[in-house]
Amino acid sequence: MTDSAHNRLPDLTFLRLPHFPPGEVWLPGAGPGDPGLLTLHAVNALAQADIILHDALVDDAVLRLARPGIAVESAGKRGGRPSPAQQDITARLIALAGQGLRVLRLKGGDPFVFGRGGEEALGLAQAGISFRVIPGVTAGLAGLAYANIPATTRATNHGVFLVTGHDAPDTEHQLDWPAVARTGLPIIIYMGMKRLPLIAQDLLAGGLSPGTPVAIVRDATRKQQRVLMTTLEHAAAQADAAGLRSPAIIAIGEIVALRDALAPFAISLAETS
Ligand SMILES: C[S@@+](CC[C@H](N)C(=O)[O-])C[C@H]1O[C@@H](n2cnc3c(N)ncnc32)[C@H](O)[C@@H]1O
Repeated sequence: MTDSAHNRLPDLTFLRLPHFPPGEVWLPGAGPGDPGLLTLHAVNALAQADIILHDALVDDAVLRLARPGIAVESAGKRGGRPSPAQQDITARLIALAGQGLRVLRLKGGDPFVFGRGGEEALGLAQAGISFRVIPGVTAGLAGLAYANIPATTRATNHGVFLVTGHDAPDTEHQLDWPAVARTGLPIIIYMGMKRLPLIAQDLLAGGLSPGTPVAIVRDATRKQQRVLMTTLEHAAAQADAAGLRSPAIIAIGEIVALRDALAPFAISLAETS
């Protein structure tokens, strides 16, 4: 790309991106951090909204794309920290839409992937409020890509697990980690840092080798992104020693080892975010 083309966006008006009518709630995914990963639909929504309620993990640079002067509220749910109750967030969305505002509920990553977007959409539907869901780039896949780890290759795997490390409060829906291990498929874990020692134990019990490659990608796609390369038996202790905490994605499986071949030649997009 020549210097004159750098940072120049094409005229997008021919795309006829949708009009945001008053009284609707739109739920776009903001991606994992780097604003370059926003979809055009999300940018179009930001440009029209009257009020934004955003998750804790939404990057400030994304919020800078909002229409100037509008109200911006943090409505984040963040593990371990006081945050508004889910039913209060949904009730607020319904009330604001009822006032005839264009309400933007901005979610980190993809709104329907571990983001409670499904629950909020259900609440809006039950209240008779029209909504639009705009998919986003989910942290599990972007985190891997920014760490130069392919989620699949034909030589290594024909599938991948996207799972949460947070167990559902009702035991009926707890993940059978040893059964996941027995499939041999790579495992990409969201919200797994707190329970990593127990998860690793369960995966070893399911037959994964102690030397299985593990990558932990913290603050994926942001300038401060960190990647820890380790193995299943050492992952919890090394993450602890390195002070790696949430938000982080944990990738487990042979795909992680591909990073060694790719990283020396790959240009990190995180450096530009
Ligand atoms: C409540 S979930 C939301 C997931 C989001 N809806 C998505 O699709 O990415 C929050 C978890 O996503 C992961 N996450 C989100 N943003 C991240 C980032 N920039 N880097 C690493 N992990 C991230 C972390 O595991 C974090 O605990």
